[in-house]
Amino acid sequence: MKRDLISIRDLTRGEIEGFFDLATDLKQRLHQQIPHPLLPARTLALIFEKPSLRTRVTFEVAMTQLGGHAIYLAPQDIRLGARETVEDAAKNLSRWVDGIVARTFNHATVEQLAQHATVPVINGLTDLTHPCQALSDLFTLKEKRGNLAGLRVAFIGDGNNVCHSWLYGAAKMGIHLTVACPKGYAPNRDVVAKAREEAAATRARLEVIHDPVRASEGADVLYTDVWVSMGQEDEGSRRKQEFQGFQVNQALVDLAQEDVLVMHCLPAHRGEEITDEVMDGPHSIILDQAENRLHVQKAILAALLGR
Ligand code: CP
Ligand code: NVA
Repeated sequence: MKRDLISIRDLTRGEIEGFFDLATDLKQRLHQQIPHPLLPARTLALIFEKPSLRTRVTFEVAMTQLGGHAIYLAPQDIRLGARETVEDAAKNLSRWVDGIVARTFNHATVEQLAQHATVPVINGLTDLTHPCQALSDLFTLKEKRGNLAGLRVAFIGDGNNVCHSWLYGAAKMGIHLTVACPKGYAPNRDVVAKAREEAAATRARLEVIHDPVRASEGADVLYTDVWVSMGQEDEGSRRKQEFQGFQVNQALVDLAQEDVLVMHCLPAHRGEEITDEVMDGPHSIILDQAENRLHVQKAILAALLGR
């Protein structure tokens, strides 16, 4: 049976820890210049309906380092659902490649790809979730803190795709997550409810509030993301007004723990959701998160595409 990675909700805690162990091993091997061709001659198709720096580059580099190859398919190349159906594209690709990463607008598109492809499908971000990002973030936190359970994380800003994957990830790993968002920008209620069901087993506390100050007080981690996600450009000016007061700046950092870690999935809009001072400051682990996309995704690829 092929395995997909569509949502962190579908993973067990043991599977997540397995990815992390392999990622640690692969990261060490890379830093020691020890070759690790776990996917010789395997090919990965990358379908992107939206722009990307980190996701595209890390998956392409990952396949090179694992001894395989990646094919990038830009928005105008496939036009899923317009030039041909998602089902036809999935069935064709399955005859040639060993795996598919897809970044789409509708979450249902990735689910349909997974349903019709006979090779593993990995979610490279949808309007609903961004599992590879949150898994890399959790791995980064584990590297820095040793243990995830019991950490207090404040997600300041939009209840968006990254926030949704964080809700699932926090629930699985026993992290207390407080989302502080303006009214009207709360995370999807269904996602919150499903994450809370999972949280019962790990005793993770998942809260949604509208006060960034209260969320930041005593937090171990401050996390933020853009106020205007890809596809929401038309709402840009309204969002920028409504998110005033939700900027991760020195005043919020000062309310958190002395050794608070500041995280951002990137790309950042400096001066909007985060200040230069905080992004480039001593608490920031933002570039470590970006680096770890490579190591964690290599582990995911090796686990899903390896024979
Ligand atoms: N964080 C992230 O997924 O970045 P890209 O949009 O550049 O891939
Ligand atoms: N929420 C952002 C994340 C980018 C990686 C977006 O969807 O644009």
